[in-house]
Amino acid sequence: MGAIGTLSPYARPKGEAIVSEETLSNLLHEDRSFPPDPAFAAQANGTADLYEQADADRDGFWAQQARTRLTWSKDFGQVLDWSEAPVAKWFVGGELNAAYNCVDRHVEAGNGDRVALHFVGEPQDDTRSITYAELLADVQKAANALKDLGVQTGDRVAVYLPMIPEAVVALLACARIGAPHSVVFGGFSSDALRSRISDADAKVVITADGGYRRGKPSALKPAVDEAVTGDSPVEHVLVVRRTGQDVAWTDKDIWWHDALEAADPECAPVPVDSEHPLFLLYTSGTTGKPKGILHTTGGYLLQAAYTNSVVHDVHPETDVYWCTADVGWVTGHSYIVYGPLANGATQVLYEGTPDTPHKGRWWEIIEQFKVSIFYTAPTAIRTCMKWGKEIPEKFDLSSIRVLGSVGEPINPEAWIWYHDVIGAGKAPIVDTWWQTETGAIMISALPGVTSLRPGSAQIAVPGISVDVVDDAGNSVPNGSGGYLIVDKPWPAMLRGVWGDLQRFKDTYWARFPGIYFAGDGAKKDEDGNIWVLGRVDDVMNVSGHRLSTTEIESALVSHPKVAEAAVVGATDDTTGQAVCAFVILRGDAVQEADEPGEGGDLVTELRNHVAKEIGPIAKPRQIMVVAELPKTRSGKIMRRLLRDVAENREVGDVTTLADSSVMDLIKSGLSGKD
Ligand code: WT7
Repeated sequence: MGAIGTLSPYARPKGEAIVSEETLSNLLHEDRSFPPDPAFAAQANGTADLYEQADADRDGFWAQQARTRLTWSKDFGQVLDWSEAPVAKWFVGGELNAAYNCVDRHVEAGNGDRVALHFVGEPQDDTRSITYAELLADVQKAANALKDLGVQTGDRVAVYLPMIPEAVVALLACARIGAPHSVVFGGFSSDALRSRISDADAKVVITADGGYRRGKPSALKPAVDEAVTGDSPVEHVLVVRRTGQDVAWTDKDIWWHDALEAADPECAPVPVDSEHPLFLLYTSGTTGKPKGILHTTGGYLLQAAYTNSVVHDVHPETDVYWCTADVGWVTGHSYIVYGPLANGATQVLYEGTPDTPHKGRWWEIIEQFKVSIFYTAPTAIRTCMKWGKEIPEKFDLSSIRVLGSVGEPINPEAWIWYHDVIGAGKAPIVDTWWQTETGAIMISALPGVTSLRPGSAQIAVPGISVDVVDDAGNSVPNGSGGYLIVDKPWPAMLRGVWGDLQRFKDTYWARFPGIYFAGDGAKKDEDGNIWVLGRVDDVMNVSGHRLSTTEIESALVSHPKVAEAAVVGATDDTTGQAVCAFVILRGDAVQEADEPGEGGDLVTELRNHVAKEIGPIAKPRQIMVVAELPKTRSGKIMRRLLRDVAENREVGDVTTLADSSVMDLIKSGLSGKD
């Protein structure tokens, strides 16, 4: 297969293949195509002429989208100012307020009684529906509560909450007063929270006593207590009472309900410049230190709303939309909070896991609320596939008319299952490629317009320009692979890395000068569809969550018993990739490990240590105690070889190793274990 050969020059910087030959040949044989249903097309928000309009006059296209989809308190002049590239200014001089666009204007238009959120708590029957008018009342009070605590326009507010309506209210309250929020996923540890709070210099944290997880209350506040002790910029902690569990109380703490009750019910939205920071969201990169990705107001909100309309095909009057992401990730920001609410949609907000109290919970919720648009991640689809189609088949899923996928490549097998079992063989699937940095969807089919190709994210949405290039930055022909890049500025693009302009330039704009390099490898098929193959840097994708190998390695080496560590993402049938760690122990710890390769309690101790340092999501699936790590003569760890071990494969070419016997040593040390 010639195409595989053409991929190798674009392999990982360390010479590691970005995709296995097996995966690639499976992909190349995938030629099923699903043309749009004319009845769907007749009602679709997305139309073929959007591509033409955008190609003819990109700036004019975005200006028109911005003026029709958003409400501006002051109109903008220039559409795009790229004179200080790579820091863009979109909709120059325009002023608006994101919370006003997401809530007030729908109430003003007479839709105050429309349900904004059908909240479904994890405990069964813990359900409540919140209208746009109710949301507006809460957002105003919460905004005033923040002001009462001294939060001013421009101050950062950290948010560490479970998936409860207060999370949505908190974000919109920040936006209402122009205080950028920095949400930290509730699954991150107190150490991770502390470093993100400190980097963002957040004044206030909004948290909860806890949330429900698999039938039990799970505490959140203790992590916040730990994260704000000692030298911390945090002056106040607002605490939502969710579970009612006992919590320690400090001088900094205020109950959310008390603060809202005491607050003035009216709070005028603060009009901010189009480029005013809306939020920071930390994401893992190739170094140990997470980056605070900065998004601003006008361009971000526009692209979130536009894509939610043309890609998810949300019709706010009739649809019930559900995105299963957590607000702690960018998907929750763009496709739970900003996009759907800017469009005035009705959505489900679910607190729990898909299998509590039973494995049909998601499908039961779809049946109950007649969910018509469902957006989730391939890892979840594969898990449900493993549980069997008998489970979803017990529920009435006939309300579903659009399905979405995000976070990692969806393998054709999972695509077909999703299409047939959940979508009754007719709901179009949109496989949406984007990143924390891109802010909103960049590559996706438009349902009703594009013929669908299972496994491919397909083409850039109208107004966006992406390409696949070779090492020298030249566009590759159809049928070849390379690096996925974005070659024209886009409205929701990141405006920087918080407090580190140089890092922003070095990370995204240096590989191909003037061009945004996303970090993914991709291939163009004969029809020009883009197949995203995965990261080409040291970033792993576990269940659609981004983790840095270096960050986990640093966490492991911070343990007193670990001398050296190497982490790789090994292919996993369900989670896409899984964290596998190889560790060399310090002299005195070696005896403690029961036997080489095993380590028993020590392995548990190290896994827990990673959970404590970063969060349970980063816990290695496997930790292998080894005597040596494979290194090149210049001392670089050859992760490719470790991945071969982790994936139980024949170890590849070892000729560049400083000591070629190391792999034999590792393998013999590990033999005897499963
Ligand atoms: C990375 C970004 C997009 C929000 C959730 C993750 C991978 C994302 C797809 C897709 C193949 C995908 C990429 C990307 N990715 N969507 N549809 N097909 N890969 O956001 O944590 O910033 O991760 O997720 O590798 O670079 P994120």
